[in-house]
Amino acid sequence: MKLLVTGGAGFIGSNFIRYIFQQHPDWQVANLDRLSYAGNLENLKDIEKRTGYSFVKGDITDRATVDGILKEGYDGVVNFAAESHVDRSILDASPFVDTNFKGTQVMLEGAREHGVKRFLQVSTDEVYGSRGEGYFTEESPLDPSSPYSASKAAADLMCLAYHKTHGLPVMITRCTNNYGPYQFPEKLIPLVISNAAEDMTIPIYGDGQNRRDWIYVEDHCRALEAVLLKGRAGQVYNIAGGQEKPNLDLVKLLLKLMGKPESLITFVKDRPAHDRRYAIDCGKIERELGWKPLYTIEKAMAATVDWYLANGPWWRNIKSGEYQEYYTRMYGGR
Ligand code: NAD
Ligand code: DAU
Repeated sequence: MKLLVTGGAGFIGSNFIRYIFQQHPDWQVANLDRLSYAGNLENLKDIEKRTGYSFVKGDITDRATVDGILKEGYDGVVNFAAESHVDRSILDASPFVDTNFKGTQVMLEGAREHGVKRFLQVSTDEVYGSRGEGYFTEESPLDPSSPYSASKAAADLMCLAYHKTHGLPVMITRCTNNYGPYQFPEKLIPLVISNAAEDMTIPIYGDGQNRRDWIYVEDHCRALEAVLLKGRAGQVYNIAGGQEKPNLDLVKLLLKLMGKPESLITFVKDRPAHDRRYAIDCGKIERELGWKPLYTIEKAMAATVDWYLANGPWWRNIKSGEYQEYYTRMYGGR
């Protein structure tokens, strides 16, 4: 298969490209990424010279760039490219509308014009909003809370409209919170590990009782592969790790794995419109495509901690750049 991956220099995209080459060594994969603050070619160092891989620095909102690539003829597109951090969308929503909504529409239009056979939109469980009890299915209404999740919900609707209007073979996945190697340290898990490694305080929003379902990134990549190859066009597939935890319990687990004291924890002002709980039912992908997660938190979290401790230069390099300004703005330099 000849595949165009967008946002492949980010966390999940880089893990996906690595996973795809392990599973399908003969595939060709082009990676279109604008290298935003979250894009990092270090994430693909082991792959950059591999036969079948190519990188294009470019923006998915730019029609000429997207056309220039897609006219070469691609079987599939996997659209990861996004502004992905809820807190940054609260500081400034504009780039989220540009990339997540407008950029997705540009990719859809390019795919339509150039006859792409499989278009996979990588969306999020956040589009359903928060849920006290029970689980959202693919039929649940969209009720996003943050500018980030609103921009992703808008993109999902545009994808479905391209399927209905133009017959574009689009599939959408909505996954829960990922963890694993190469995650940008603005997100909870790499932020906790990298702060704790340097005995810095760990900021917990609100009362720490917000709950998330955690999935190891490799399980997500395997689910994306299944949807790309076997998913039905026009369908949405939820993807979950089945590992739900309150944030405070998760942070205490990470500190225990690292042998660091809980006294590092500091409760800080809550995130506005902070979703209390994400919970989705992923029975559809299990029934239709035979996918289920293989990793538990017990199995994969220790390996994740080990990866960050062994790759200090990777996150220290990130933290010494633009990140410092962001961190001070968010957390007051703690
Ligand atoms: P990330 O922020 O680590 O990576 C995003 C990548 O997109 C970066 O490499 C960045 O340079 C690139 N990018 C941003 N704007 C671009 C543009 N206009 N043109 C081209 N490239 C651009 O994000 P992530 O955590 O890897 O998430 C990837 C996708 O998965 C996103 O669409 C996100 O909504 C979705 N998702 C993430 C999670 C999660 O837990 N991280 C869960 C479910 C879904
Ligand atoms: O559910 C999927 C989503 O998961 C993805 O669509 C997003 O791209 C991804 O960023 C993630 O969103 P969250 O907002 O859930 O992830 P984050 O790591 O930012 O926060 C996880 C939880 O931890 C959330 O309840 C907020 C809390 N938190 C986060 C940070 C960064 C803290 O308490 N302190 C922090 O410093």
